[in-house]
Amino acid sequence: MDTLKVLITRQQIAAKVAEMAARITADFAGESVVLIGVLKGATIFLADLARQIELDASFDFIAVASYGNAKQHSGEVKLVKDVDESMAGRNVILVEDILDTGLTLTYIKKLLHAHQPKSFKIAALLDKVSRRTEPIEADYVGFEIPDEFVVGYGLDFGERYRNLPDICVLDSKRE
Ligand code: IMP
Ligand code: MG
Repeated sequence: MDTLKVLITRQQIAAKVAEMAARITADFAGESVVLIGVLKGATIFLADLARQIELDASFDFIAVASYGNAKQHSGEVKLVKDVDESMAGRNVILVEDILDTGLTLTYIKKLLHAHQPKSFKIAALLDKVSRRTEPIEADYVGFEIPDEFVVGYGLDFGERYRNLPDICVLDSKRE
């Protein structure tokens, strides 16, 4: 049986996303940006964030798979879907739901750096700082959270729970 406990409410998320969008708007004043969402977890965050960024903005998406089971990273990342357009000379903001070990974003960062963007920033809604194994940080962080498995607001467990409006800690026990 799965137990869900609200960790971050929809109101807290909305306030934080507005704050992050305001910072991005100020940091890139007068410039265009391309928001690259990491499928599928970042889609809801990207949709909310993008609508509050007051800049000329375009979207692109990237998909990666990490081997392992639903909760455990194997350390191997593979590209499932590349960006559609070249990022050369553009202000890239990579939008991710959660920064955990850092393996996924390290892989994506290397891939996108090869495009030679004008600038490269990472916006992560959640950051599990204590889990990091790679030397990578986000430039815009929503919430630092403890080492708990969370779902909702785009985050899944075996593809479920992405549609929950709040971010919840998932406790799955076998009956
Ligand atoms: P990393 O490569 O270890 O940083 O893992 C990043 C990816 O792992 C995220 O894009 C998520 O898909 C997934 N992930 C890490 N922690 C959680 C969690 O608590 N809930 C749901 N997915 C998670
Ligand atoms: Mg993800």
